[in-house]
Amino acid sequence: MKLLAQCALLFLSLQLHAQQDPQRHRFITTLMQRMTIGEKIGQLNLLTSDMDVTGPFMKENYKQDILNGACGAIFNAYTPQYTRKLQDMAMQTRLKIPLLFGYDVIHGHKTIFPIPLGEACTWDLALLEKSARIAAEEASADGLHWTFSPMVDIARDPRWGRVAEGVGEDTWYGVQVAKAKVRGYQGTDLSTPNTLLACVKHFALYGAIEAGRDYNTVDMSRRQMYQFYLPPYKAAVEAGVGTVMTSFNEVDGIPATGNHWLMTELLREEWGFKGFVVTDYTAINEMIPHGIVKNEYEAGALALKAGVDMDMQGSVYATQLKKLLDDKKITLQDIDQAVYRVLEAKYKLGLFKDPYRGADSARAKKVIMSTTNLQAAREIAQRSFVLLKNEQQLLPLRKGTKIALIGPLANAQRDMIGNWSAAGDYKQASTLLEALKSRLGDIDYAPGANLSDDRGLLKKLNITDTGRSEDMRKEAVETARKADVVILALGESQGMSGEAASRSDIGLPASQRALLEAVYNTGKPVVLVLMNGRPLTLEWEDAHIPAILETWFPGTQGGYAIADVLFGDYNPAGKITMSFPRNTGQIPIYYNHKNTGRPLDPNNKYTSKYLDVSNEPLYPFGYGLSYTKFTYNNLQLDKKNIRPQEKLRVSVTVENAGDYDGEEVVQLYIQDVTASVNRPVKELRNFRKIMLKKGERREVTFDISVNDLKFYDKNMKYVAEPGAFKVFVGTNSRDVLEGEFSLLP
Ligand code: BGC
Repeated sequence: MKLLAQCALLFLSLQLHAQQDPQRHRFITTLMQRMTIGEKIGQLNLLTSDMDVTGPFMKENYKQDILNGACGAIFNAYTPQYTRKLQDMAMQTRLKIPLLFGYDVIHGHKTIFPIPLGEACTWDLALLEKSARIAAEEASADGLHWTFSPMVDIARDPRWGRVAEGVGEDTWYGVQVAKAKVRGYQGTDLSTPNTLLACVKHFALYGAIEAGRDYNTVDMSRRQMYQFYLPPYKAAVEAGVGTVMTSFNEVDGIPATGNHWLMTELLREEWGFKGFVVTDYTAINEMIPHGIVKNEYEAGALALKAGVDMDMQGSVYATQLKKLLDDKKITLQDIDQAVYRVLEAKYKLGLFKDPYRGADSARAKKVIMSTTNLQAAREIAQRSFVLLKNEQQLLPLRKGTKIALIGPLANAQRDMIGNWSAAGDYKQASTLLEALKSRLGDIDYAPGANLSDDRGLLKKLNITDTGRSEDMRKEAVETARKADVVILALGESQGMSGEAASRSDIGLPASQRALLEAVYNTGKPVVLVLMNGRPLTLEWEDAHIPAILETWFPGTQGGYAIADVLFGDYNPAGKITMSFPRNTGQIPIYYNHKNTGRPLDPNNKYTSKYLDVSNEPLYPFGYGLSYTKFTYNNLQLDKKNIRPQEKLRVSVTVENAGDYDGEEVVQLYIQDVTASVNRPVKELRNFRKIMLKKGERREVTFDISVNDLKFYDKNMKYVAEPGAFKVFVGTNSRDVLEGEFSLLP
């Protein structure tokens, strides 16, 4: 009976494919009729190329796999010459099925943009799309077809190093970014050779791992999933993302990679996903230590049956599927379905017409790190920086100020491009020292400290120990004494965030903190320039240091972009998309939390709070300063009540009341005051990034419709419930003007 139902489903889905593009369907089915079972299984096998100082190269035994048609896709291989060489091998196989080349093109290919968490702080969706477009343009010329991006895991725990790769804590914003990225990579027609097939990851809930420890367990209610964690993946699917990557974690007790509910019922049946699903790296094999299956044989069956099409690097499909088929644990339809999806992606990319699609040395030479791409990287980096503090207008720096540059990140080329910097060549990255020298001529510089004095950590992260921090600190203090203003470049090395880089203490490493205190004690004004991949705990810094600029890992043009902002050529306008906690004990901390039955009351001990720290983060979601000052006045709602088909118009007057022209991100939040299930105290529902000349005033308007008020109700229906709502507009999630309205039945 079950088999019958399965066959019927496959038949229906093939019918649908046939209707969509009969020519494509005919091509694929004809090809599949000619394929042996070995060749079919080969299409589901994704293997990595190796990499050394000379660039990517192929393991001998994998070459045999390609020549035997036992491998359908390769990752970590690029350059037109190398991918051509590999594709030549595929063209020697019996059926000449082209290889698909994938890679982690996460924040740029060779022109590296700020890390995604930094880029998100631009609140500029057109720019986010543009950097994906540029990445696709460069990577496709370098022989790539497929990027393992965007990563849209909502995360509320900055201990997790991979927050660097995502958009932060907000679901609504995550949805907008997911759509922009898919559009940027895939364009409107995947057969255009300068596009990349996108891969939304890590499906699902990877950002919610317990204690921020990478690869850890996730346990979450369906309500929480649907409301807060799933929408960005769903948005990518709706935007037409071609592939989905499984996550390492379990979802409702079953690893994502073997989770039929997730990969088939939700992703395909509920959301209508039509592309193929790839595992994360060896995620099928990892279901054994997860304790879900005994061996690879069982793991392969579970994954395929769940709806997972391609096996990344685990070789479980390659070694087990034939046996499983012979033993009737899986059906030929199970395999065919996965093969069909993979071949369909290759067809859509135009690989059957031109297996060397896009790979073109001349084009690569022209587009990779072109002047316009570098200019875009510089502009995006400027816009990703967040001014966290600027007492007495220490910034921008005045001309003629004598500057000392200090800190282990002041001249750290490798760190500038951050983690997951793909094919980016760090030797092409500008450092802050280089940029300041090019502006000011020679300047006083001292590294001042090791990135960390934890020798074990340095070793783990492959960082050279540059000497004794104590001696370095002395030299730095001397250097500081000679200056009018000290710029201190501190933070994390790139390896301290990203995959497998969880930290239980997210403050500045002790060696750097000691340097900061020593320089502060000279009495010289300090500008703290932070480079890091996650929110840090900065209570001491915020209490003592007059100016703090968060620059993340800013990419190839990072040094120049920082200098542009320090000297006021660009007035910073970035806003954080993840709350900065005061200490790690506050984690998880996020702005769109719910009210409890005992909301905070400072005068009542028995309300929800800590004895030793406030409930508030140090810097709230959406926070970021400017060299100018924006004031918000006159919040107006055009109605007191709206009906479901009506729109509510909200307006506010924003004025640039400071001394510089500048951009501002005007943010709109709502709260459903009483509902059938507990709702957050505030939820972002819109924003507008505006440019105001100094002295300029503008009315900014937003329309709120019933769609902005919907949520999963007590029956898990996505509805808006009549009743009272609050609306908030402001410069961040904390500092807002407030109004009220009601939704009528
Ligand atoms: C990561 C993925 C990545 C893959 C391929 C895994 O370890 O979790 O995000 O795409 O490796 O490099």
